[in-house]
Amino acid sequence: MRLALVGFGVVGRSFAKLLQLKAGELASKSGLMPKVVCVIDNHSYSQDSNGLDLGKVLSKKNRSGSVGLPKKGLSSSEIISNTEADVLIETTQTNFKTGEPGFSHIKAAFQSKMSVVTANKGPLAVAFQSLTELARHNNVYFKFSGAVGGGTPILDFGRSCSKGDTIVRISGILNSTSNFILTHMERDALDFKSALLYAQREGYAEADPSLDVDGFDSAVKLVIMVNYLTPNKVAMRDVDISGIRGISLKDVERARKTGKAVRLVASADSKLKVSPELLDMTDPLCVSGAYNAVKFGCEFSGDKVIVGKGAGGMETASSILRDLIDIRGMLAARGSTSC
Ligand SMILES: NC(=O)c1ccc[n+]([C@@H]2O[C@H](COP(=O)([O-])OP(=O)(O)OC[C@H]3O[C@@H](n4cnc5c(N)ncnc54)[C@H](OP(=O)(O)O)[C@@H]3O)[C@@H](O)[C@H]2O)c1
Repeated sequence: MRLALVGFGVVGRSFAKLLQLKAGELASKSGLMPKVVCVIDNHSYSQDSNGLDLGKVLSKKNRSGSVGLPKKGLSSSEIISNTEADVLIETTQTNFKTGEPGFSHIKAAFQSKMSVVTANKGPLAVAFQSLTELARHNNVYFKFSGAVGGGTPILDFGRSCSKGDTIVRISGILNSTSNFILTHMERDALDFKSALLYAQREGYAEADPSLDVDGFDSAVKLVIMVNYLTPNKVAMRDVDISGIRGISLKDVERARKTGKAVRLVASADSKLKVSPELLDMTDPLCVSGAYNAVKFGCEFSGDKVIVGKGAGGMETASSILRDLIDIRGMLAARGSTSC
């Protein structure tokens, strides 16, 4: 299977390493024989229709910051359109407002009859329906498990829950950064600012943490889940969002004395909401640190919960690989020979 990689940061590079580590096993266990024919970052690209040496591309990127030749005015979308590949792996940074550059990359891939796997929430937030329709129209596949829950297969689990049943409620802890901060306020008696600084030092929060602590990242993941797992079609503007900046150490300590914890909960039933809530410490949703948890309330079979680490390069890369194995299975089932 010929792959093109656009985005070669934490997740893109982890995916390349995972392919190297798993090469033998992938062929014997899943029949997947990936060949990376193109790697694109922000300013450079590298192409070889016989397959690139990933070790060389990784060490070039580590050494010089580039993956190959300068783009010289070519856009990543143009490079994608001129590449012969079966699947595009899209891992550029998330933009919740425009969905770019991921949106254009995914569109270019579909128009060139490539399937797409992405971990990028931006295009899903702004154009979920049009992208899924474009994929269908071009008879290709579109998978994005890594966009919600890092390596934890939240979307796949939700799909299983909805087979033969209907998901009527979703609630979850979807943002690792906020959960890490709230956990350390609770454990180490830190105020919000000190816990945020600690999260930044430990690599759990960006220099600009607003998308995480103000609830937008949780909201976008909620929107993706509702659109993917239920018949409802929603957008960011439908979510009532409040974050955790206003949570004080006193709030956290008061909650603890009554056996509860403050958590940033995203929920969808008759309304869509992201807000800090008090959870019983025994509630399976009440996870600690960088963990995520999602509860799917089903009409007939009741509540089901999935818990796991919500981010991380290798974790998210493993979701991408899972999606790729699924696509390989679907392509093989319809008799595609190149995969
Ligand atoms: N990190 C995680 O734990 C995690 C978990 C789940 C989902 N995600 C999502 O996965 C995506 C990637 O995350 P990350 O942590 O790997 O981000 P990152 O380290 O910031 O990497 C982003 C990559 O995109 C490249 N890029 C930017 N604009 C580009 C363009 N126009 N064309 C081609 N490449 C371009 C950058 O190039 P340069 O290297 O040249 O700057 C960089 O390689 C994001 O959407 C993120 O939200 C991340």
